[in-house]
Amino acid sequence: MKVLGIETSCDETGVAVYDSADGIVAEALYSQIEIHERFGGVVPELASRDHAARLAPMIGNVVAEAGITLRDLDAVAYTAGPGLIGALMVGGSLAASLGYALGIPVIPVHHMEAHLLAAMLEPGPPAFPFLALLVSGGHTQLVAVSGLGDYELLGATLDDAAGEAFDKVARLLELPYPGGPALAKLAESGDPGAYALPRPLLNKGLELSFSGLKTAVLRLLERLGSAARDGGQGAQIRADIAASFQAAVVETLVNKCGLAMRSTGLERLVIAGGVGANRDLRRTLKERGQRDGYAVHYPRPALCTDNGAMIAYAGWCRRATAGTGLPRIEARPRWPLEALEPITSGAS
Ligand code: KG4
Ligand code: ZN
Repeated sequence: MKVLGIETSCDETGVAVYDSADGIVAEALYSQIEIHERFGGVVPELASRDHAARLAPMIGNVVAEAGITLRDLDAVAYTAGPGLIGALMVGGSLAASLGYALGIPVIPVHHMEAHLLAAMLEPGPPAFPFLALLVSGGHTQLVAVSGLGDYELLGATLDDAAGEAFDKVARLLELPYPGGPALAKLAESGDPGAYALPRPLLNKGLELSFSGLKTAVLRLLERLGSAARDGGQGAQIRADIAASFQAAVVETLVNKCGLAMRSTGLERLVIAGGVGANRDLRRTLKERGQRDGYAVHYPRPALCTDNGAMIAYAGWCRRATAGTGLPRIEARPRWPLEALEPITSGAS
């Protein structure tokens, strides 16, 4: 079965073809960084317009790269939420039109479920059950995954998401958008022990909180004043702040994963979402897993950040849930993961 996947929930246009016999056979990703960069963040209207301009030609290219034609597709999957409403509508409209024209099922996909399943696309995929750490720009969640669609939310952030904290602190450090990767790069030349920043709610249950940490960086920058801005010394101070901030986020996430692994007795941890691309987080979690006796799975960085491959794959897993008749365009800006229904037949 060949499933076309379409991702347009935020600032990346992702398209891929998943073949249930061969895996991902073609994919393309277009990042809108250049469009949003000068605004310091995503401008929703510009995101929608760019998805609308790029999506159809990208689909044509990806299908050709897969060595097939549109008529060979068996289903179309698209991100139905959560995400930016206009951006979601672009992907949903094109997916529904294609499905209607080709007479094939159209499958609405939950973006976070797709992130969560992305590790399945790697060699040696994790078996159910496992704990998922979902860390993206809008979400930070610890989820007990018993099977496909069978999710129990164990803990989440009370305020900012981990990626959001990276992005906000990157702005404070005057780093370019998108802030997370830029901050991680700067942190490489900094000393993670230079500044003692808070580790909110450490060892206190499975809730997380990152807004206090962001405020602590703001206060630190105010205190340092021009010293953090001027010349070579300022550059080193900013790198030290970046490294200290990253260390605080990583320690907090690793601590919460450890607590959740212990309290559930699960043996596998799966990392998903954009912040999962962070090298320091990946390395530290892997070491902690080795020490404490649990396996840590994470997809390659390109499968952690938004992409079409995870949507095509999640669509295939959810093929049984595709509607019949005229396809509806579903766009759900807010859509809790726990609202999903378990799937009895799905991935193999
Ligand atoms: O999953 P994703 O691509 O999009 C959402 O669904 O939100 O995640 C994007 C988030 C952004 O906040 C971005 O700054 C963060 O992931 N991110 C990173 C890194 N790469 C992306 N944060 C820290 N280190 C990275 N290497
Ligand atoms: Zn995402």
